[in-house]
Amino acid sequence: MIEASQLYKAFDGRPAVQGVSFTVPEGGRFMLLGTSGSGKTTTLRMLNRLLDPDNGQVLFHGKDTRSFRPEDLRRQMGYVMQQYGLFPHYTVAENIAIVPKLLRWDTSRIRQRTEALLQKLGLSWEAHAHQYPAQLSGGQQQRVGLARALAADPPVLLMDEPFGALDPVTRARIRQEFNELDEFKSKTVVMVTHDIRDALELGDRIGIMDKGRLIQTGTPEELQQHPANDFVAAFLHGKTDAP
Ligand SMILES: Nc1ncnc2c1ncn2[C@@H]1O[C@H](COP(=O)(O)OP(=O)(O)OP(=O)(O)O)[C@@H](O)[C@H]1O
Ligand SMILES: [Mg+2]
Repeated sequence: MIEASQLYKAFDGRPAVQGVSFTVPEGGRFMLLGTSGSGKTTTLRMLNRLLDPDNGQVLFHGKDTRSFRPEDLRRQMGYVMQQYGLFPHYTVAENIAIVPKLLRWDTSRIRQRTEALLQKLGLSWEAHAHQYPAQLSGGQQQRVGLARALAADPPVLLMDEPFGALDPVTRARIRQEFNELDEFKSKTVVMVTHDIRDALELGDRIGIMDKGRLIQTGTPEELQQHPANDFVAAFLHGKTDAP
């Protein structure tokens, strides 16, 4: 469904991503795992044309993403931004309604959808819909970010550190809740994380990034059994230090 091939992107002449290729079939859950600055966000942003690669291409349903209008592509790919990315001057309900409004849904349909999503994610219309992001806890903002990405029921979900900035206990709980959500189960997912536990629990395939390159891709079992080098092994070892 998504095929990235030989992606290359440089900023100010310095390569941030180079030679990155991977395929995510429909319903697949691909985890981009790597250290800070390894090029994960840059890679994710090239999938829905938030950023265009300098070289290489992305196919979506077999078609070059450059042949899609960016808006059309983004409606099909919900995006959960690193650090929530909520609009601070929009209420929770207004944040969630952004894409449905672009799609010109009527007010009652938007209200129904928002209410249902809030409830599924453990929030409520009464308590949260009219609050502003700054009035929410980190975990609640994270849930609103997910609700916003899911609002128009896109087939693809791109998630950038959706559980970042959470304490390990909350992180584990929210991760499990997401994993059990019907809304989430039916999606094709590409998720960025630096946490091996996210990748092992949520991913069916993991790509390990280091210094702008994808150094190994495989199922969790393949990576654990046959790490390509010491870096991969050290990354996977991080799991054993988990609280
Ligand atoms: N808009 C930009 N302008 C200049 N340099 C950038 C830009 N975006 C990213 N970079 C650089 O590209 C490299 C990769 O950044 P990227 O955000 O993709 O890393 P990341 O793996 O997502 O890191 P983190 O885990 O910290 O979010 C970094 O060296 C970063 O400084
Ligand atoms: Mg990032």
